[in-house]
Order: sequence, then structure tokens, then C-alpha cells
Amino acid sequence: MAEKEMKLIVDGKRLDGRKFDELREIKMEVNVLERTMGSAYVEWGNNKVLAGVHGPREFHPKFLRDPRKAILTCTYNMAAFSVDDRKRPGPDRRSVEISKVISDALSSVAVLEKYPNTGIDVFVEVLQADAGTRCVSIVAASLALANSGVPMKDLVSACASGKIDGEIVLDLMKEEDNYGECDLPVAISPRRGDILLLQMDGNLTREEYTKAYNLAVEGAKKVYGMQKKTLLDSMVNLEEGE
Ligand code: CDP
Repeated sequence: MAEKEMKLIVDGKRLDGRKFDELREIKMEVNVLERTMGSAYVEWGNNKVLAGVHGPREFHPKFLRDPRKAILTCTYNMAAFSVDDRKRPGPDRRSVEISKVISDALSSVAVLEKYPNTGIDVFVEVLQADAGTRCVSIVAASLALANSGVPMKDLVSACASGKIDGEIVLDLMKEEDNYGECDLPVAISPRRGDILLLQMDGNLTREEYTKAYNLAVEGAKKVYGMQKKTLLDSMVNLEEGE
């Protein structure tokens, strides 16, 4: 979180006109890429994220295979043109961290025991970034994995909340993330009630934390509803096309 240099709440409204507990507009679609086992595209505010799944397939190198289950690996990448200053192509500390938290979240819900000795690769490409990309990426990756047919105990849903101009608000956009006081991304598997990601960048009091956490979970539950509807609609489309 940067030093505050910008007023983020004017006349009780956020810069993009949202209420404190309002999500940005979200659109999602699955089955968008032909050469993957499963894929998804999510637009969330000004974020645009594509996810594709390869596998399960034989894991290499052989000595790293797990005879009890598949190894799920996520690779998060930001396109060079996804941010204002050209992002240097290739992995950096931030993308390695986000790749790991997405891999961990998905590995908690995928039934990996069904595919011993294999690897499942989930690739996430951020085409346009506007804060909250780890949450958008988790949502897209979870949809792509479900679309690939790998059995899952639940979907993973995510949303961030945070603190701007002293107020706890849902789903920070870029200016709020840059100039706000705190960002709190949360991922959950709602049916199982598990928390699969909880990070915090900034400071909150105990009361503020409780409020922000509950707000993020409520946001993630709304997103979960959209994810389920997207998957159900895609199955209806599939049946109609047959
Ligand atoms: O994207 P997320 O909020 O999950 O992660 P972050 O590290 O808190 O980054 C916040 C935002 O900063 C990103 O969504 C991008 O909009 C922006 N960013 C950027 O402009 N250039 C980078 N190299 C990395 C992030």
C-alpha cells in the first residue's frame, strides 16, 4: 500500500461511483480455448484474465512423480501490456508467489488422488490488470479446472476487501489499491466452508479486520453464485449443441 496521495471517497461515494459493499461488474465464460482441456475467461471491472488447463498427463521428471496423486501446478503470468508501465516479460517474485497461492487453493479442492503419477497444469494469463488479479485469477482458474472435467469437491471463489480513506470497502480497484490503507484478498470453498487464501497488505484494527473479512467472504459467495451459473449454463449449451 502506497502513501496516501489521493482522495478515494467523495460525497460518500467511491471514485467509480460504487457503494462501499458493491462489487465491480463481473462477466465470466468457460470453454473459450480449443487446445486446452478446460478454459475460462473472466472480466472483473477492468481486469481481463484468461485461464487454460493442460492434463492430467504423465509427470516429468519421473523421480518427482507422486504415486498417490496428481501434482497440480499453476503458472500466473502478467502480459507485458497488462499494466501502465510495460511489465518485464517472464516470472518475478510476485508472479511466483501468486502462482503458488493459486496452486495451493486449487489443490485443496481438486480430487488429485484420481490421477496418480500425473501433472495438471493450470495457466493464467492476465491480459489487463486493475487490482485484485490474484482473486480474479483464482476464480478463472477454478472455472477452467471445472470445465476440464477434473473432479472437484467444490469450486474456489475469491474476493478482496480493504480500507480506503478510513472506510472498509469491498473489491478495491487500482486507485484504491494504490492509494488505500489496506487490501485483504480472501479465497474460500463455500460449500466446505474452508478458507483457502487469506493475505493482508496494510494495517487494520481487530474490529476493522473482522468487518473487512466478513465483507470479502460475502463478496466471494456472490462470485461463487456467478461461477456456478456460468458452469451450469455451459452444460445446457453443450446439450443443446449435441
Ligand atoms: O493484482 P493483485 O491485487 O492481486 O496483486 P498486487 O500485487 O496487490 O497488485 C495490485 C495491482 O497493481 C495489480 O492488479 C496491477 O493493477 C498493479 N500492478 C502493476 O501495475 N504493475 C506490476 N508489475 C504489478 C502490479
